[in-house]
Amino acid sequence: MNIALIGSGGREHALCTKLQESKKINKIFCIPGNAGTAKISTNLNINFLNFQLLLKTLKRYKIQLVIVGPEEPLVKGIVNFLEKNNIKVFGPNKFASQLEGSKAFMKKICKKYKIPTANFKICKNKNDFKNSIDKFRLPIVVKADGLAAGKGVVICKTKKKAFEISNQIFKGKFKSSNKVILEEFLEGEEASYFLIVDKNNFVNFGTAQDHKKVYEKEKGPNTGGMGAYSPAPIIDNELEKKIIKRIVKPTLKSLKDKKQFYRGFLYVGLMIKDKNPYLIEYNVRMGDPECQVIIPRLKTDLLKIIKFSLKNQLKKLKLSWEKKRCMTIVLCSKGYPGNYNKGKVLEIRRIKNKRNLFIFHAGTKESEGNIFSAGGRVLNIVSKGKNFYQIRKKIIKLIKKINWKGGFYRKDIGWRVIKKL
Ligand code: AMP
Ligand code: GLY
Repeated sequence: MNIALIGSGGREHALCTKLQESKKINKIFCIPGNAGTAKISTNLNINFLNFQLLLKTLKRYKIQLVIVGPEEPLVKGIVNFLEKNNIKVFGPNKFASQLEGSKAFMKKICKKYKIPTANFKICKNKNDFKNSIDKFRLPIVVKADGLAAGKGVVICKTKKKAFEISNQIFKGKFKSSNKVILEEFLEGEEASYFLIVDKNNFVNFGTAQDHKKVYEKEKGPNTGGMGAYSPAPIIDNELEKKIIKRIVKPTLKSLKDKKQFYRGFLYVGLMIKDKNPYLIEYNVRMGDPECQVIIPRLKTDLLKIIKFSLKNQLKKLKLSWEKKRCMTIVLCSKGYPGNYNKGKVLEIRRIKNKRNLFIFHAGTKESEGNIFSAGGRVLNIVSKGKNFYQIRKKIIKLIKKINWKGGFYRKDIGWRVIKKL
């Protein structure tokens, strides 16, 4: 069968690499893909948010199954559109995608189904804000309701700052949001739990921890993720049971109660405090860079898992995982997450991927045999092994070999699991 993978990041290069292993696949098309996916599949450079154009392209290349990487097309209803046009698609529909697309939607479910999460107030306007702000202790978390490309959350140390950020959101800073969510600040350790879900069941799809802050020692603004590792040791069996019982099951039930359901990857973003999980956010997709450390540990055929989910037969499937640990460090363009230059040459052609040390591309483009940077997050250097300390050493050695003057990276990825710094 021919399949298409939507997206262009490190997550999609990781998914594409894994899908390539499947014997059932004839051709993979990445829409639009990057220089990494171009090597192992066919990139089609079209705007996937133009659903009509996408459909035409899918028909032209006889594509029978679409796998969606990023959240925006999901929240905009790509699944409903393609299904209506008789194309199989793996991902949640528009209704279920609100779990990520609207923080108010997610928080209302938490309240109704008693899912542990930070106390919150949904503010529709400045008046709501003024009436609510004094009910929270500082720092206070201010969030835009809708998608905001990772920039919609600010932890405010003063009420003045909270007021300023809320005003920007009410004024339309993020087109997708006219509501503000005020949230109690939760202390603890963040970790992510992943699932693949179908109408009736779900399977655990691994755990990971990422590093969102741009600088070492967790300083500076948030990014999409500067590095990650899997598994997350903090999520032990006991905690996993709590996550499923207190968070996952009630959420899936809430959709069923509305005669809806979830299908696809589900990313449960958690704060762990005193061995108890609190839901921070849902993402209706795999994490990036978390996907780049989970996929290399997966032994089961990914296409098989997706097919079982599409047939609502996940219950019959048992996934198998490598025991090895996996880490990635993201090599970014200098200036990210602010302004950065694109189009810088990357000297990586001579670097050969090995079994336990390899590169997933993110923001890269190929032109006339050269590879250029084309985004803020450019390369994911990934390694597997027994010990996170050794793994990280290997990754940093390779980054030094790449010696990209236009880039930077964090040397302290995994500090929580590597005590000797
Ligand atoms: P979100 O987009 O909701 O995941 O928020 C982005 C990041 O902000 C999270 O990964 C956390 O690091 C932080 N964050 C969000 N909500 C809270 C909260 N209630 N308490 C503490 N940190 C939070
Ligand atoms: N790494 C965070 C995310 O994918 O949302």
